[in-house]
Amino acid sequence: MADKTDETNNLNKSWGGRFSKKTDKLVRDFSASIDFDKHLAKKDIEGSIAHSSMLEKIGVLTVKEKTLIHDALAEIEASIFEQSFKWDKDLEDVHMNIEAALTNKIGEIGKKLHTARSRNDQVATDVRLWLKEKISNIELLLTYLRQQIVELSILEYKTIMPGFTHLQVAQPITFGHHLLAWNEMLKRDQERLSDCLKRVDYNPLGSAALAGTGFKIDREQTTNLLGFSKICANSIDAVSDRDFIIEFCSFSSICMMHLSRISEELIIWSSSQFAFVSLDDSFCTGSSIMPQKKNPDIPELVRGKTGRIYGQLMSVLTLMKSQPLAYNRDNQEDKEPLFDTVKTISQCLEIFGKLMGNIEVNRENMMKAANMGYSTATDLADYLVKKSIPFRDAHKIVGEIVNHASNKGCMLSDLKLETLKRYCEHITKDVFEILSVEGSVKSRNHLGGTAPDQVYEAGMRELILIKEKITKS
Ligand code: ARG
Repeated sequence: MADKTDETNNLNKSWGGRFSKKTDKLVRDFSASIDFDKHLAKKDIEGSIAHSSMLEKIGVLTVKEKTLIHDALAEIEASIFEQSFKWDKDLEDVHMNIEAALTNKIGEIGKKLHTARSRNDQVATDVRLWLKEKISNIELLLTYLRQQIVELSILEYKTIMPGFTHLQVAQPITFGHHLLAWNEMLKRDQERLSDCLKRVDYNPLGSAALAGTGFKIDREQTTNLLGFSKICANSIDAVSDRDFIIEFCSFSSICMMHLSRISEELIIWSSSQFAFVSLDDSFCTGSSIMPQKKNPDIPELVRGKTGRIYGQLMSVLTLMKSQPLAYNRDNQEDKEPLFDTVKTISQCLEIFGKLMGNIEVNRENMMKAANMGYSTATDLADYLVKKSIPFRDAHKIVGEIVNHASNKGCMLSDLKLETLKRYCEHITKDVFEILSVEGSVKSRNHLGGTAPDQVYEAGMRELILIKEKITKS
């Protein structure tokens, strides 16, 4: 049994009236969300300012009352910003902390603010406003990262490297082409993010607890004041819906999966076995025991943080599973995963943008590696097809030639014409044009292909689009 010291006072609580017992201290600590939802304070105040302006317009508040409320809220916001505001766990959450501070400042009038509103529509409004702002920042970070990648692709449009499948050398490609593949991945993420934003951008305010309110509220006005594009059409759905958080966490999971794949490649490529790229010293760490080491910690950490973001998506999906309509207190659990997701993905995108802007490329090593592993074997097969040999037969002939070269320990282009002719009489001396890695990439000169000309044009096209995005934002 909880003794008196384990109980907290209900008297200053907005819902204390119907209770004859005080809240157990354990319950208070268990249910309070103030430690994390105080991050919503700025948006909570923005919501209250819009709500009170609307209350004034419909005659619930006088102009004087509204002004008093606005001025007091501005003072509260300033004290939160200066960190002199005293958050009180007994007041549960950000909404009641701010409302109590308001009433402390201006007395009875402060108590009128919550007319025609519930914490259910209030919290949904706050989270949507907060996430909208974060999304526009993440959108900028994505654009900046893509700019770094695309600019590097233009510099490296004709740098030849091996392309891989199964992490085995497959066909020669240009490094710029590989970088533009990363750009495509991130471009899709950006599209997903702006699509998600469309569904975040709805105003739930006015839905009150779940059924709306008997006051003649003006939802258009709060929607305009808060800068929402649309109004939630159903009050029950408005207070219960957290799809927009799930969508944001899905976007984040996919985007982190991409960053983790890029990280993996950077880690492999910066190893001494590959030595294709070198990450800037300011982005690496050393080892306390092995003096020669330069570790790619940043891509490793980004790869590692991906798991955490997937976890947050699972948390929110599971949080919503089986919840009956409308609002349930379960929903308080949406904030920590969302806040952490926003913080983590923002950090990862920002640091990745800087990392990509400082990569040193070792063109020679890339070229050397492209010349190993018989990366032009497919070109030789295609060459035979052009000489009217069916592809399956060509494949077999080239397999035999590769086997021959491999036994001799030489490259395909080192083989003599007579040797090649032994495997297929249709081979003539023009074959050497396609056996070189330069010839191979040059021949793949179509939209989306790896030929330097294509890569240069594709890079320039992307850069123009990115620059347009930057000017618009
Ligand atoms: N802290 C709560 C949350 O995050 C605010 C809404 C509380 N509403 C309620 N009916 N208890 O969801």
